[in-house]
Order: sequence, then C-alpha cells, then structure tokens
Amino acid sequence: MCGIVGYVGTPGKTPSAVGLVLDGLRRMEYRGYDSAGIAALDGKGGMAVEKRAGRLDNLAEAVEDANLNNYESTTGLGHIRWATHGRPTDVNAHPHVDSDNKIAIVHNGIIENFAVLRAELEADGFGLRSDTDSETIVHLLHREYYGDGENRGSIDKSVRAVANMLEGAFTIVIAHADHPDRLLACRRNTPLVVGIGEDAMFLGSDVAAFIEYTRQAVELGQDNIVTITKDGYTITDFAGTEIEGRPFTIDWDLEAAEKDGYDYFMLKEIAEQPHAIADTLRGHLHNGRIVLDEQRITDEDLRQIEKIFVVACGSAYHSGMLAKYAIEHWTRVPVEIELASEFRYRDAVLGPDTLVLAISQSGETADTLEALRHARAQKARVLAICNTNGAQIPRESDAVLYTHAGPEIAVASTKSFLAQVTANYLVGLALAQARGTKYAEEVEEIFQDLENMSAKVEKTLEQWDNVNEIAGHFAQNDTMLFIGRNVGYPVALEGALKLKELAYIHAEGFPAGELKHGPIALLEEGVPVIVIMPSPKRHPLLHSKMVSNVQEVQARGATTIVIAEEGDDSVIPFADHIVRIPECPSLLQPLVATVPLQMLAAEIATQRGYDVDKPRNLAKSVTVE
Ligand code: M6R
Repeated sequence: MCGIVGYVGTPGKTPSAVGLVLDGLRRMEYRGYDSAGIAALDGKGGMAVEKRAGRLDNLAEAVEDANLNNYESTTGLGHIRWATHGRPTDVNAHPHVDSDNKIAIVHNGIIENFAVLRAELEADGFGLRSDTDSETIVHLLHREYYGDGENRGSIDKSVRAVANMLEGAFTIVIAHADHPDRLLACRRNTPLVVGIGEDAMFLGSDVAAFIEYTRQAVELGQDNIVTITKDGYTITDFAGTEIEGRPFTIDWDLEAAEKDGYDYFMLKEIAEQPHAIADTLRGHLHNGRIVLDEQRITDEDLRQIEKIFVVACGSAYHSGMLAKYAIEHWTRVPVEIELASEFRYRDAVLGPDTLVLAISQSGETADTLEALRHARAQKARVLAICNTNGAQIPRESDAVLYTHAGPEIAVASTKSFLAQVTANYLVGLALAQARGTKYAEEVEEIFQDLENMSAKVEKTLEQWDNVNEIAGHFAQNDTMLFIGRNVGYPVALEGALKLKELAYIHAEGFPAGELKHGPIALLEEGVPVIVIMPSPKRHPLLHSKMVSNVQEVQARGATTIVIAEEGDDSVIPFADHIVRIPECPSLLQPLVATVPLQMLAAEIATQRGYDVDKPRNLAKSVTVE
C-alpha cells in the first residue's frame, strides 16, 4: 500500500534525483497507482515538487512540462499512492509540503489520531489543503522546527517529537530544503528498507526501489528513525538512542524485476512458476530432513502442538486451504483455516500448544500481521511463510520458511501462490518429521514428487495458446463459475479470484458437491463453468463424482471448460473445451491446475482491454486493515 523512494547522492558522481526517483517509483508502481509525486532539493535552500493524480505517466509528463528532468539535485523523495484518506486527486497526492515550501513528506500507512492532530493544527492557525491524514505530519514538523520550543532548528529532534505524537501505521520520509545533505525517515508497522550504494544511500518501501543501484540493504526495526546522507546512515529509536539495523544482501537483481519481453509482468511471472517451485524447495531437504529457514522454537515445541490455525488473505488464504489438506493428512493434527481479517476479532482458542501458520507474500499485510500478533499475545507459536526477506511478519514469527518466487510485480499473485503452496507442503513435511508421523523415506519421496512439479508446470505452460483461444469465447461474458472438489476447491476459488480482480467479471468458486444445494440455480444457457477434474487414476472415487457434477451443469445449458489430466478421456463427452494438465499426486495437483486459470484470467482481461498488472482499486501489499 503506497510506495516510497528516497535518495541522497553525490553531486557530479551519482545520478540526478528526479530521474532516479521516478525510476524507483516505476518499480514500486504495483504498490499503488492512484497518484504519484516527487520532491527534489537543489542544495541551496530550494525545493521542486510535482504531484499528479492517476498513473505515474501523468507525473512523468508533469515533470517533463516543468523541465524538472534537468533540475540539479541529488536529494529527492517520491511516493506512489493507494488512497486511504481522501480521493485520488492532485491535492491529496504526496509529497505534502509545509507553508514555507521547505519541508516535504511522503507517508505510507494510516495516522489513526489524525483528526485530533488536524483540529489542533487548525486551532494553531495552520491551513490544511488536502483531505489526507498524511498532511498533518508536515505541519506538525513545521510547528516543531520553526516553533519556540526545544526542537526549534533541529530536524532530528523535530522528527523524533512528531514520530512520538503519531498513532497508527506509518513510514514517513522527510526532506528539509535547508538540510539538503540528508533525508530522515521513521517507521512503525509499515515497511522501510535502506539501500547502501556507492556515494549514495537509498530508502524504499521495498528493495525494488533501488535494486538498480545496490543489492546491499539494511532492515529497520519497529519504531526506528533513520537518517541517510550520501556517506551512510544512522538509526535511532523514537527516544533518540542509537541502534543497529540488520544488513542483508538482496538475492535477486534488476533483470528479475523487469518485464523481459513479456507484455505484462503477470505473464512473465506465470512463466517463471517452474523456477518459483524449484527455488522454494532448494536447500530445504538436508541429510534427509526438512529444514526451515529460521527456527526459534524447538522440535519439542512442535511436538507439543495440538492444533494449527492457518491465517492469510486472498490468494495466500487459498494456498492455506491446501495446507490444511496436507498437514492433516500427514500429521493428523487438526487444522483450521481462517481469513486473517476475521481471526483476531473472534475468540479463537489459542495457547502454547497452538501453532499459527501465517502466510503472506509481502510479509506486510496488516490483517495477517495483526492476526499473528493476536496469536502471540496468547502465547501461540507462529510459523511464517513469506516471500520477502526481513519483512515484519517473518520478523515477528517463531519460525520462518521463505518462498523464493523472486519479486512479484503484478498485483495478482501467481508465482507467489504456487511458491506458497510448495512451502505449505514443506511445512507439513517438517511437522510430520518433527512429530514422527512420516518416516524419513516418505518425506524424501514426497519432496521428490514436489521437485518433479517444476517440469509438470512447465508442461502445463504449453497450454497457453489453447487457453487463449478458449478465453476468446468468454471474454464478453459477465459471469463465470468454477467448481472443484477436495484440493480442487481452493483451486476453483483462486481461479475465480483471478478472474474477478483482473477481468472484473463476476466469478465464484464452489465445491462441486455444493452446487445442487443452491448455486446451480445460477446456471442458464451458455454460462461458462470451469471444472477442475481430479485424477481418474489417483482419485477414482472423487473423479466419478465430478463426472456426475459436470453432467449436471451441462444438462442445464452451461458451457463447460474442463481442466483434466492428460489421458482422461472420460470427460470428453461433457467438455465443451478441455485444457490438459500432467498427471501428478492428488495433493500436488493444484500446482498444475491453477496455472491455466491464471492464464485464462490474464487473457480475458487483456481481451477486455484492462491493465493486467494493475487492476483497478487494488494494491499489491495491503498495509491497512
Ligand atoms: O502479501 P500477501 O500474500 O499477504 O497478500 C495477501 C493478498 O492481499 C493477496 O494474496 C491478494 O489476494 C492477491 N494479490 C490476489 O491476486
């Protein structure tokens, strides 16, 4: 939710701020695209600011018109917005600037006490221009810096004072035109990383902001303030005590964040899925044992677990549904799957014998983060599955398994979903091994099956032309239904979510057996129903039930698109269209069955003329509840 870029370079040695910050924003665009803005300091007490509603291109045009591309500056900040308070207009866009045009701030998050602060500022005579909570921050800074109090003239003290006034979630980056050698930033509950370049330092909501310049980064903790200059950085807490950040090396590069010849990031990310699976598995089977990336609890703790809750949102939640099938099957421990946004508002029974599995690509989803905090407060253990090294969710967990899907830029989850499913299975195996419900050979055998899935996903990608052709028949439909049974049900939900979010088509996923209990009434002539068929060899009973379900829907006029295993000819009479997937163990079938549904949604969205990477109203990371 919102993307932030900050940069302090060296005049004559490192690139100028305006272009660099715009490039950084381009790579952050998946975090929001309601508006964008930039501020740059000229080093002589001056500051240039441009901001525009809408996509980043609008800002780039405004920068061009204002001839800012030639603005001499090596200190700048930028923001890409996903609107929370106030509509996406030019005025509400960040940066927000004080009345003297000296201080500029960008903010990601929500200031929960902004109404009180705003009223206070207005009573003090400050005129606020926007409807945002963020604008209060810049006036508070002005009041501290130019007021008669002890913080007068000190940007460091002023930032500290204001950080202590704010409630809620915030990453704020601050520039002061009279201190052009530095940027300050503070964070609570929303992300910020520092990039260490040569003669330059960077700030970013995530490392994509500066990946072109450095792979050396520093992770900040909760309630930290950081100051960057061209030569380095210092970190303090909100009381001013110096503290250390955690340095890390980014394990992907610029190329991974670029489109690589694809029209959309999403298409590239679909194609990268075989690697996402292989990379997520790599290194996790060691001497016949599954190893997690971080484990701050013992195997004995894992043996004490009597109940597991899986908490996640959106696609991650669908992946978590699959975790339930695998973990219960392999460990016999009961698993409940919960939407993170609901979990902490009910009174779930939690304690030291409960494990909460928190799944999040970004590692910063507020609903999931708050759910895990709620669980920890009641002494439950938390194991995180995350795609973002050092994000808040893994930091606050007792154990972590990182997915290695690489940067996912498209808003819709694709490769991160398959990587999460893979990681879920690894967690299931790790638990089974710790609890002694699977022998080492069985663990190795399943691990081998998982490794084989990369090639099977690769094979499934060969269906791309077929799926695109099928998509052409349905691009103008306004309803689509997805049905599956057992592990095919979460796949159906995920397929429906992809279609909704990308193509804005009303889509719903159902357990196939549930159709006749109500949803079958939705069927009429030509309604497309996508059917995820289980394997006839591996799950004959389920397969025969599904054959009946396809017949039922076809008999009511539906047009059926059947995702069926290679060689499963029993479905031919009932399928108006068929997409073939390779045979694989039943539990692992979602890894291949999801892929055609991702392609279908992307192609239908394209045919309807929508931006596949940036669906309306959405943002990649949802850092507000
Ligand atoms: O970063 P997270 O995995 O925590 O994100 C959770 C959901 O917001 C996310 O999976 C969302 O549903 C997808 N982008 C949908 O494609």
